[in-house]
Amino acid sequence: MIFDTHAHYDQKQFDEDRDVLLASMQAGGIGRIVNIGCDRMASEKCIELAEKYDFIYAAAGVHPSDAVTSLDPAEDEETLAAISRMADHEKVLAIGEIGLDYYWIKDPDQRARQKVWFRRQIGLAREKGLPIVIHSREAAKDTLDIAKEENIRDVGGVMHCFSYPREIAREYLDMGFFLGIGGVLTYKNSRVLKEVVAYAPAESLVLETDCPYLSPVPFRGKRNSSLNLPYVAEAFAQIKGMSREEVEEVTWNNALRLYRMAE
Ligand code: NI
Repeated sequence: MIFDTHAHYDQKQFDEDRDVLLASMQAGGIGRIVNIGCDRMASEKCIELAEKYDFIYAAAGVHPSDAVTSLDPAEDEETLAAISRMADHEKVLAIGEIGLDYYWIKDPDQRARQKVWFRRQIGLAREKGLPIVIHSREAAKDTLDIAKEENIRDVGGVMHCFSYPREIAREYLDMGFFLGIGGVLTYKNSRVLKEVVAYAPAESLVLETDCPYLSPVPFRGKRNSSLNLPYVAEAFAQIKGMSREEVEEVTWNNALRLYRMAE
């Protein structure tokens, strides 16, 4: 069975067929899914899904692109308090996704706000004893600086959709972090990620879709779902010289350690 460590089934792309699709997961070899929050409302929907389906769990947090939308400090405090309450739910396994995104956000003031949200949510995870799910895009240096200053080594978590070179991977592996690997691994132009997967110990890698985004080849550009993860597992197996079954087993066990699940 495959563990999808990062999905967004709360999003509108699944409104048409969400329940039918989720009902087909077990038969499709997908044993467990963690649905990741991007803002307050999405995090609430993640919890609703986790309450509805045994095999779905949730993460609550504010994505760096959503951290810049409010300019009202009182509203920000309210949002953080809501995320904090959600973190106490028994099926919320992590704070995320949180981090920095300089691809979508160019404005220096907005980037500064992303940093504040990132640090505060690391603090929240520490307080709740939960791991963090980090989103970092074109912000390698600032993410790493904050990661070190905030001692994320003690918090634990995953670098979701890892997109940086080996030297950066080394830094996070040294802090005990997992690297999230998804559909990008199957792309022709993903040389850097393939190098990272070859370099990192299999025990530090987890599978993820980030669905509805980032479908693997041969479905690139179409809506993604966890049912496509076998294509990622296959690419992973080829790079590591492992069987598909070994990949599923090792990444399943890694996901349990990442999210601190008993079995
Ligand atoms: Ni995501």
